[in-house]
Amino acid sequence: MASLRERAARVQELLLSEWQDTGESISIIKAPGRVNLIGEHTDYNDGFVLPVAIDRDIIMAARPRDDGQVNAYAADLDAKSSFHLDDIQHDSDAPWSNYIRGMFLLLKQRGFAVKGMDAAFSGNVPLAAGLSSSAALEMSTGLAASVIGGFHIDKVELAEIGQATENDFVGVNCGIMDQFISALGEKGRALFLDCRSLEYELISLPFMEEYKIVIGNTMVQRGLVDSAYNERRSQCEEGVRILKQHLPRITALRDVSTAEFQKYRSHLPSIVAKRCEHVIRENQRVLDSVEALKSGNHLVFGELMQASHESLKDLYEVSCRELDIMVEAALGLSETIGSRMTGAGFGGCTVSLVQAAQVDNFIDTVHATYQSKTGLEPEFYVCSAEDGAVQLEL
Ligand code: GLA
Repeated sequence: MASLRERAARVQELLLSEWQDTGESISIIKAPGRVNLIGEHTDYNDGFVLPVAIDRDIIMAARPRDDGQVNAYAADLDAKSSFHLDDIQHDSDAPWSNYIRGMFLLLKQRGFAVKGMDAAFSGNVPLAAGLSSSAALEMSTGLAASVIGGFHIDKVELAEIGQATENDFVGVNCGIMDQFISALGEKGRALFLDCRSLEYELISLPFMEEYKIVIGNTMVQRGLVDSAYNERRSQCEEGVRILKQHLPRITALRDVSTAEFQKYRSHLPSIVAKRCEHVIRENQRVLDSVEALKSGNHLVFGELMQASHESLKDLYEVSCRELDIMVEAALGLSETIGSRMTGAGFGGCTVSLVQAAQVDNFIDTVHATYQSKTGLEPEFYVCSAEDGAVQLEL
């Protein structure tokens, strides 16, 4: 893999070759993808999540323009897109550019002094694999806009603007987890986030010497994700509406204890009850995971990962055959501490915690089992926890 310095030099060269030289100085920005360790489908229920920013990212070279024009070159797609700050429209011919357009529009609407920009970017976050390449593009764009516009933006607000870009401009009804971790991740740590208050705590991963985080890409992309995702959201909202009749203080599933849920679950339609049970127990699993990690009890953490997968499969019903096969293959190995699907589901990736010394064996064995059962060629990424969006001084 090319080093960060080489990748930065390449986007800088591309910027110079794709857009006419203006003599302005160039800034280099990096923003990572993410993997969620636990806390799935909890963020839009005001709940808890525990993601890490990974060593897969987008690097963007950017320089200011005085004429309000924004020109972007997506090196990996060899595609260009341009717009003016006074007229930011959705572009269905260049869907990738909508993350950039949305960020500029929302920054502008919030009163930030955005300037025109020339940019070129390239990434190594696998696309459409559930590792948040879009959040990485949003966060790199937002940080680039602040650097070249000369204004400061708080990272939490940057994440909120990223989520608003998805919700209001791109049209994806996601929660805040992906943008938050891409903006605020920290090297060697996971981020424990309360998605209601947006308070967060960085959690050391003391096991990282002994164990590795291994992402397994099933290479399955499902078109279903958006509609199924929105359906799950509305089922959770329906659960809140019904439970509120008995528990008037609640505003989200976050507010319902497992004891309260048991008491009132018979009032819910059975599908809604399953969805709510997943969310309520998953929130507790995140809290238990944080405790387990703080006390160095990685085996307990592994069991919680496994319980999370079972729940996503049986109660939330967002897993799929390929994800289950990969998780099962991983759990069949003694070097695996825990394994689960990660992200929205219906394809994408699994995340496993694996004994460092056995990682090669893990990858070879899970690869072979998965391939023989599905006919698909999976990919594996051994990850480190990295910093969130940052301007690089190279
Ligand atoms: C996607 C969304 C996130 C979150 C996860 C599921 O990644 O973008 O906001 O809801 O799915 O946990």
